[in-house]
Amino acid sequence: MCGIIGSTGSDGTIDLLLEGIGRLEYRGYDSAGVALQAGDHLWRARVADGTRSLDTLRKLTSDSPDGSRAGIGHTRWATHGKPTDSNAHPHMDCTGQIALVHNGIIDNWRALAERLGVTHEISSETDSELLAHLIEDELTSGCSLVQAVSGALRYVEGSFAVAVLWAQEPGTIVAASRLSPLVVALGSGSDGEPTDVGADRSLNDKSVSVSLPEALLASDTSALLGRVRTYWALEDDEIAVLRPGSIQVTTLSGEAVEPVARRVEWDMNSAQKGGYEDFMSKEMHEQPRAVADTLLDRLMPDGSLTLDEMRITEDELRDVDKVVIVACGSSFHAGLVAKYAIEHWTRLPTEVDIASEFRYRDPILDSHTLVVGISQSGETIDTLQAMKEAGKLRAKVLVISNVVDSSMTRKANGVLYTRAGPEIGVAATKTHLSQLVALEILALYLARLRGTLYPAEAHRLFEDLSRLPDLISTTLDRAQAVSDVAETYSEIRDFFYLGRHVGYPVAMEGALKLKEISYLRAEAYPAGELKHGPIALLEPGTAVVAVATRTRMQGKLLSNVEEVRSRGARVLLVANDGDEVAAAVADDVLWVPKTGHELFSPVIDVIPLQFLAYYLAKKHGLDVDRPRNLAKTVTVE
Ligand code: M6R
Repeated sequence: MCGIIGSTGSDGTIDLLLEGIGRLEYRGYDSAGVALQAGDHLWRARVADGTRSLDTLRKLTSDSPDGSRAGIGHTRWATHGKPTDSNAHPHMDCTGQIALVHNGIIDNWRALAERLGVTHEISSETDSELLAHLIEDELTSGCSLVQAVSGALRYVEGSFAVAVLWAQEPGTIVAASRLSPLVVALGSGSDGEPTDVGADRSLNDKSVSVSLPEALLASDTSALLGRVRTYWALEDDEIAVLRPGSIQVTTLSGEAVEPVARRVEWDMNSAQKGGYEDFMSKEMHEQPRAVADTLLDRLMPDGSLTLDEMRITEDELRDVDKVVIVACGSSFHAGLVAKYAIEHWTRLPTEVDIASEFRYRDPILDSHTLVVGISQSGETIDTLQAMKEAGKLRAKVLVISNVVDSSMTRKANGVLYTRAGPEIGVAATKTHLSQLVALEILALYLARLRGTLYPAEAHRLFEDLSRLPDLISTTLDRAQAVSDVAETYSEIRDFFYLGRHVGYPVAMEGALKLKEISYLRAEAYPAGELKHGPIALLEPGTAVVAVATRTRMQGKLLSNVEEVRSRGARVLLVANDGDEVAAAVADDVLWVPKTGHELFSPVIDVIPLQFLAYYLAKKHGLDVDRPRNLAKTVTVE
């Protein structure tokens, strides 16, 4: 969470920092701040003003020192300490000579605070400020900034991505990372065509440094979109020294490393609203393309399927005797749907784990287990750690991610990309649909390999999959009907979401969307479970939203719906076009087209639930892109 941006050697440092913070706001927007090198001292502005933080910071920086050519910026999602001005980054040491921005969590902050509190004036409640004081102590020995930062980080347990300025080394930024992502890049020093160093270039190649005067860093490449095409990612316990036109990377203990050059895949247009009122609306309307792109070129003329980067051999996959899926949030819900598909088509037992719980349950894995991590960002710390744990236990690890070269894709044995393009809205929409489709592809791929599906059947199923983008477009065309229904429900504060079979994860996803962006109480249950307790909560006026499309469980689900209706609930069903049996037990219906196979129905059925959450949030006057307390990418445990 939190976003970091830094630059040295640029003509317009402050503009670059503010623009970068704006692009990183999806990582957190409790507060924002910058520190600039100003001659032989540092200048700082920071503010905690919720979703208005960046605008307020812009005003505060209108009198920032002219001509500064080095600076760091930060947008915060509060972990230690409330969102207040004094807890906002950058933090400074006692002398005001060091400025530091930090992502991550310092696990041993209490011990550090006790030790540093004796000799330092600690002015915030954050764990991050302690790092500035640790560096201050190191610098008293007369060392360089990079030595001081490496020295200070020896005392630190936990995760960090840091960027540090020191007044006495003008133009230098030192950055380091452990378990929190950080990328570095060389830029031309001005706007214009993004600089393309070339993916084969080494950071130590002097000809690169000389021709590009600017060195940049960021917590992810979205902050650098439109400025650079080539970047390098710091791995755990690496440290970088950025000076105008040069970046040197070593390990924290000073050993040489050779970072791999990577390419920024997305462009600026894909990260803008493009005429839509908000990103969420734009991203929901991009779902046909996101799904079509995720399906593109997967099916070969001989009926076989291709994945992206597969460093697991076909023999190894044939040898798999269990699949374990790890993920969080919407990605977890996609994993729950995948369990049905993988078990149905491959007959492989499949478990689905909340990633944050996985490591702590002493999982039983071995070299015959396939662990599938699902993550839009590829950076969610819980999923990343779960995948690392699986690797330690010798499982084969595959990741489904939307971000090329994200931390998870660099760690996994195999990668299947969802090609949804950047998703800026905090609520996952187009990436969730792409994950569902990618997981269906994975299930069919495994089934073909293992011989549990005839080629002709796989081909027919793939044709059904390829019809999904059109069905999604049809469903999107009905958004206005969902808006009208939402009006009827706008005074209700308690929602139950019900589903059975693959409809249950759809209900969970619908409830999560409603909670996230509308702040309404929404609980999801497998419909058959309701009478085992939760039905006691039903009162006249409670809304029950049920996924009642024509799957094998529809009959039983409709009986469950009758039970809640007879207790006074207002019933809203997602049902297939023309299904009068379903309509007969509903107060309102959100109509959706039927998919070729029931296991594909979640891809369509979830769409009206996304819109329901969206319109209810709008009717309550809420910011759908930046819901309270949330950050798009959760990089702290
Ligand atoms: O980037 P990831 O897919 O790993 O993120 C997982 C969850 O944090 C994410 O799905 C979250 O629940 C979304 N806000 C859901 O809309």
